[in-house]
Amino acid sequence: MPPGLRKLTLTVHLSCSVGWIGAVVAYLALGVSAVTSQNTETVRAAWIAMELTGWFVIVPLALAALLTGLVMALGTPWGLFRYYWVLITLMLTILATVVLLLHMPTVSSLTDTARAADADDLRRLGGDLLHPGLGLVVLLAIMVLNVYKPRGLTRYGWRKQQEQRHKQHQQRTASAR
Ligand code: HEM
Repeated sequence: MPPGLRKLTLTVHLSCSVGWIGAVVAYLALGVSAVTSQNTETVRAAWIAMELTGWFVIVPLALAALLTGLVMALGTPWGLFRYYWVLITLMLTILATVVLLLHMPTVSSLTDTARAADADDLRRLGGDLLHPGLGLVVLLAIMVLNVYKPRGLTRYGWRKQQEQRHKQHQQRTASAR
């Protein structure tokens, strides 16, 4: 990938992935309000905002972070299967995205209930802070992994590196002749 395109793709990748983390923090704040507030309208509004944030901000950002991450890996020397940090990032991002997509219908059905519920029902509605809380921990772990980029090579990455070195050695001896 040419350097200019790489910078552009990285900018989009960072906007999506860091935006995803920020949106989950906002979702958690709404979740805490939905679970703890004694005010009926606050609880109802929090659920409606959580559903909207989930479907229209968090889900698109998660898919975009995954997609741009794939482009970054495949379009740069990092590759998708060469370094453990990229492979672990891929698996954790897929896991976080799948859990998110499986969890969102529950958020929608709780929001539907909240829309029609009276004060007593709303107090009993409860909520789930575990999924977004654990999701945030996983996203922060991915963030650390992506910034530090530990150098460990996979077996495939090691083989590719050897092939490359061998090719460079052959080219050097051919040009020296
Ligand atoms: C929540 C998900 C993700 C977060 C928070 C995240 C975060 C980041 C950050 C902060 C960087 C910049 C690091 C730096 O240059 O110092 C980065 C770069 C990178 N990310 Fe991600 N990322 C995510 C998902 C993915 C996925 C799914 C992949 C692919 C499997 C991926 C592959 C890469 C690659 C290859 C780079 C290096 C780009 C380069 O050297 O130009 N990321 N990511």
